[in-house]
Amino acid sequence: MNELKDRIHRLKKEKDAVVLAHYYVNDEVQEVADFIGDSFYLSQVATEVEAKTIVFCGVSFMGESAKILNPGKNVRMPDMTADCPMAHMADEKRIQAMRDTYEDLAVVCYINSTAELKKWSDVCVTSSNAVKIVKALPNQNIYFIPDGNLGRYVAEQVPEKNVIVNDGYCPVHAQMTAEAVRAAKEKYPSAEVLAHPECIKEVLELADYIGSTSGIIDHARGSSGTDYIVCTEIGVFYELVNKCPGKSFHPVMEDQICPDMKKITLDKIIHVLEEDANDVEISDQLRKQANAPLTNMLELGKV
Ligand code: 13P
Ligand code: SF4
Repeated sequence: MNELKDRIHRLKKEKDAVVLAHYYVNDEVQEVADFIGDSFYLSQVATEVEAKTIVFCGVSFMGESAKILNPGKNVRMPDMTADCPMAHMADEKRIQAMRDTYEDLAVVCYINSTAELKKWSDVCVTSSNAVKIVKALPNQNIYFIPDGNLGRYVAEQVPEKNVIVNDGYCPVHAQMTAEAVRAAKEKYPSAEVLAHPECIKEVLELADYIGSTSGIIDHARGSSGTDYIVCTEIGVFYELVNKCPGKSFHPVMEDQICPDMKKITLDKIIHVLEEDANDVEISDQLRKQANAPLTNMLELGKV
């Protein structure tokens, strides 16, 4: 393992490359990353890095967004088949039908979406800024795609707007049940429940804190508790344990695992670095169309 890590560090220098990794990838991949974070942080980093090449350890919408935001860079994916099923769960025809129904509609697109879907949208959001951005928009009517669970959470937080939600979902978060959370609470009665807003409403109702992966980590670091039940993908435990010595973290289910995120391995990182392989490619036209909602997000996210 150490030999593979040393090879990656050498190759990064040789190839003028940086490794970006989402919190859900395997621990050893997070260990070789230059930047680890949630989707918003990684999209910001992608606009700022100076290196010629970005190796994006995550799923395809993440690499695609990095390429859209920074087209002059080589963006390489260790595994081109690592994809987020939810990223495809919305429909252009339905978006158009909504636009025909509501004159002032803003189509708000969770960053977990394909470039094809982003192109029909007005602004992107991530789980860390969705509420803030929907509040800041001048529009009264919002169509939130593709995640229904995050959309419903946003609708609750912004009751002054008419938020219509699409019916997409994350299979990893949506399978976590309220019964499983209750069982974990019985086992660890003093534990705080930390949940990602992609979880179903019944799970969010049991949560003491709701936020993005970074939000969950920051909350656990800052809170006085010592024991936490964590309702998000298991990869986040790596950073939780590192950043919160002496605290305990418990999963709710045995399989809170995103199989696509787990496709990224050290061998695959070495392969893309050595062979200059797996470049994210995107047509100029699609890039420009999908760039507008992403750039709007970065602007509105600053406020
Ligand atoms: P975060 O932006 O909270 O890291 O979430 C990304 C994701 O894919 C959640 O399933
Ligand atoms: Fe997509 Fe869910 Fe995996 Fe996140 S955890 S990448 S939303 S499938």
